Amino acid sequence: MSQVQLSDPKVVSEIVAGLLAERPSISPKFFYDEIGSHLFEAITFLEEYYPTRTEKMIMLECGEAIVSAIGRCDVLLDLGAGNCQKGSALFDSLKPEEYRALDISKEFLEKAIFSLQKEYPQIRMQAQTCDLQEELSFPDLVDRKKVFFYPGSSIGNFDPEAALSLFENIVHVCAGNGGLLIGVDLVKDREVLSRAYNDSLGITAAFNKNILLHLNRLLSANFDLKHWEHYAIFNEQLARIEMYIRATQQQLVTWPGGQKQFHVGDLIHTENSYKYTRETFEALLMRAGFKSVDLWTDPKHYFVVAYAAA
Ligand code: AVI
Repeated sequence: MSQVQLSDPKVVSEIVAGLLAERPSISPKFFYDEIGSHLFEAITFLEEYYPTRTEKMIMLECGEAIVSAIGRCDVLLDLGAGNCQKGSALFDSLKPEEYRALDISKEFLEKAIFSLQKEYPQIRMQAQTCDLQEELSFPDLVDRKKVFFYPGSSIGNFDPEAALSLFENIVHVCAGNGGLLIGVDLVKDREVLSRAYNDSLGITAAFNKNILLHLNRLLSANFDLKHWEHYAIFNEQLARIEMYIRATQQQLVTWPGGQKQFHVGDLIHTENSYKYTRETFEALLMRAGFKSVDLWTDPKHYFVVAYAAA
């Protein structure tokens, strides 16, 4: 994960609109300032947060089957590449001719690619800025077999309709030559889910509340973290974890040109993390126009890795 580039007026007005909405919200992309990125990394090491290690285990155990389902790979396009660790773990088996690392911040990617390039001089590497909410287009890669890689269940942070649009976009870009290798978290016992987003060390709480510190810098606002708490709950009907910051006392938050009065118990929505079943996820991929889907899971059926051929 990498950082959103800062305080242009568009960013400021997007944040203010979210805060002033009837149901206040802050986009989860604002989690990932420097501290937030480190806190997220720490989350992935927590015993309670099973997705990262489960996905890794599936990739290791089912690696051969995954690679054989994918076949040839001309270009590996790593969506939300961050430090490029997960993408580069595929180099030895997929042997791509070219690697495109895509993320919000190019600077972060360029650092990662600089050291990777020494290790893999035979792979052409390029860092590219990319916002997955916007349309993807790779005019220079027409006629090459493109394999998109989107691990970590980051797709769960999109509403299903937005996930569908992204998938349709990938099908269109692949034009019958390539596909999508993707990891997604599955619906499971609500206790297991709840523990993953309410860990006992309080790292997820810190990750969630840190978004307010980030906003203080972006907006010159005066959120006081003492008066806010982390709140995460599994919404079974919508099959998603909902994360909020909850006010623990009445307060006036101000920023240049604006303010908002919060009352005890008021919520600011910060993230949805959708969970799928193998069936609902496969159906979503097929609805987007992929021709076939292969799925691999772990013995507890906590997580799934899918390859959808375009
Ligand atoms: C990045 N994303 C897949 C994480 C998730 O599980 O939805 C973000 C996260 N939020 C709280 N813990 C982890």
